[in-house]
Amino acid sequence: RAAMSVAFRVQLYFFLICLSALKGESRYLEDNDITPEAVFSLLNSEIKRELSEEFVYRRPLRCIDMLAMEGQFTFTADHPQLNCAAFFIGEPHEIISIEYNSVNIDCSGGDFIKAFDGWILKGEKFPSSVDHPLPLYERYVDYCETGSMRRVVRSSQNVAMLFFRMRTAGNGFTITVKKINNPFPCNVISQTPEGSFTMITPHQHRNCSFSIIYPVEIQIAELTLGHYNDFQVKRAVTGCGGAGDFVELLGGNGVDTSKMLPVADLCYSFNGPAQMKIGCDNTVVRMVSSGKFVNRVAFNYRLLDRQELEKIRGNNIEDFCYME
Ligand SMILES: *[C@@H]1O[C@H](CO)[C@@H](O)[C@H](O)[C@H]1NC(C)=O
Repeated sequence: RAAMSVAFRVQLYFFLICLSALKGESRYLEDNDITPEAVFSLLNSEIKRELSEEFVYRRPLRCIDMLAMEGQFTFTADHPQLNCAAFFIGEPHEIISIEYNSVNIDCSGGDFIKAFDGWILKGEKFPSSVDHPLPLYERYVDYCETGSMRRVVRSSQNVAMLFFRMRTAGNGFTITVKKINNPFPCNVISQTPEGSFTMITPHQHRNCSFSIIYPVEIQIAELTLGHYNDFQVKRAVTGCGGAGDFVELLGGNGVDTSKMLPVADLCYSFNGPAQMKIGCDNTVVRMVSSGKFVNRVAFNYRLLDRQELEKIRGNNIEDFCYME
């Protein structure tokens, strides 16, 4: 049943993104109407393909596109194409490298290609500006400004994107996309609505988010925070406010974790499953680390089926998003 509804969403959202791609140039690209579901709907057809090592996968890039594969991709405008965006995603333990092989655009005529270190959907950024290691302006690399100096751009996490605009038919570019191993992934968007992950923050003063863009049941199998204070008592009053290291579950309908609402705070280590159903469009496990400890959280997750969602929604009156 879940599979059928996903298939339906896929078609619906594909239609919606095609529509949004056709709209005028007056709107700034980042305020795109592209939803996470829409992006993932583009992925489904490719994700299962298996390829041999030596073979370089090649295909044309579409104006609105999603790529989970390594390979070489060529975009050629067949008419002025002003609001294009390509989304790239790897496995959680990978970062994305994009190399420009050839570029035939007219920068002074208004064409551009901008790489972004992360994803922007409906004006919201992942990773959130507060969680990304780089300041926002450094997350953009504009080919027209840096082209010959930076032929390769690399992301900080498993997602990256390109915004591009071609004012003249025939203009375009070719890129090679590679995925590079990242031993301590910090921010991640899950490719799938089910899976498992262990996030480890080894003595780093940084906050890391694992984002699942589906309503899911999430089960925390193990949480190890490098301190043994019992914050349970405090928690009732202040959440994890007093703890420098904790894990929070967030729910929301966009991708910016700083705009999402806390569903649960976990500030004490435990073993053994704790689970929760979160009926939001986006569910996030976020680990806040002081850098004094090695923190670790292991969890698995699965898509909620329609009945479960209806049940959760039936038990709730607020219309933000729903949990059980
Ligand atoms: C991590 O998040 C906490 C609370 O959300 C914040 O107080 C802290 O400054 C953040 N740390 C970093 C390195 O951004």
